Amino acid sequence: MIRLRGLEIPTVVQSPMANCTDLPFRLIARDHGMRFAFLEMISSEALVRGVRSTLEMMQTLPEDRPVGAQLVGCDPDVMGEAAARIEAMGFALVDINLGCPVPKIVSNGGGSKLLREPETAGKIFAKMVRAVQRIPVTVKMRLGFSDGSGEEAARIARIAQDCGVAAVSVHGRTREQGYTGSADYEAIGRVKRSVSIPVIGNGDVMDGASALRLRTVSGCDGVMLGRGALGNPWIYQEVEAALGAAPTPPKPTLAQRKAVALRHLELQARYDAHPVGPLRRILCWYFRDAPGAAAFRGRMHQAQSLEEMRDLIVAF
Ligand SMILES: Cc1cc2nc3c(=O)[nH]c(=O)nc-3n(C[C@H](O)[C@H](O)[C@H](O)COP(=O)(O)O)c2cc1C
Repeated sequence: MIRLRGLEIPTVVQSPMANCTDLPFRLIARDHGMRFAFLEMISSEALVRGVRSTLEMMQTLPEDRPVGAQLVGCDPDVMGEAAARIEAMGFALVDINLGCPVPKIVSNGGGSKLLREPETAGKIFAKMVRAVQRIPVTVKMRLGFSDGSGEEAARIARIAQDCGVAAVSVHGRTREQGYTGSADYEAIGRVKRSVSIPVIGNGDVMDGASALRLRTVSGCDGVMLGRGALGNPWIYQEVEAALGAAPTPPKPTLAQRKAVALRHLELQARYDAHPVGPLRRILCWYFRDAPGAAAFRGRMHQAQSLEEMRDLIVAF
């Protein structure tokens, strides 16, 4: 476990992912051993304005705890106000996004742009830490904007630590890299060694072996899973086993994949007002590596109703 102020989080956590880590995803993940997750990133401006679609993205349930919320934005006052609201809403932790590479976010001064704006980043950290009473504030970032050495992230991590931020997580790529190349675990290690607060490593953890490599190479305190968990909730137990030197659990059978895909469909139908569009993408995750995946994807993208989708899964 990693201690962050009054909160303990497990050493394996689920990252925030826009359009992915919604309530149905998290409920499925928790059924399979995931013990700490984040919402998708939330715009601080939209939260403070009370935009309905943003509040809908924050829906959770008692069985979906503990859960952290991540804010994106660049105005220290708005970020502080949004952090206070997140605490009042009962979230366990508030995180700040310094990694998002999306041009619209970066051109507004948020996400990975803040890696190049240490002064503004420091103001945001200080405001948010002061705005909350009990919950920890954390920062999630990339290695740098274009410099992959880890120096930019280390500088931000030191500022964060000085402001009272409880932990940082580091995706081992730059903004310029986007999702190309591979995550640099040695550079994450340089960030880890530059601060005394916990550092959680992130990037390209697709199985137990890669999680172990991330921890061994970087010396990080925890491991954050991202894309590796999409359609693969079995990864949490595999990673926990690898990090705990326990035997690798068996891979899921096709029947298990189908059963979980069907449950995901039902949960999406229950909690999402417009489930068909997202499910065309989500349901393909479960069969990515199975023979017949390409044909399934083609049919799924044509599907117009939940019934059609259900039939496609059953017939796979
Ligand atoms: C579709 C998608 C959405 C993402 N959304 C967010 C987000 O909202 N906030 C964030 O900090 N990172 C976001 N990320 C980055 C991931 O959390 C993670 O840092 C990145 O994918 C690297 O980890 P991985 O290689 O294990 O996937 C997103 C990534 C993807 C692919």
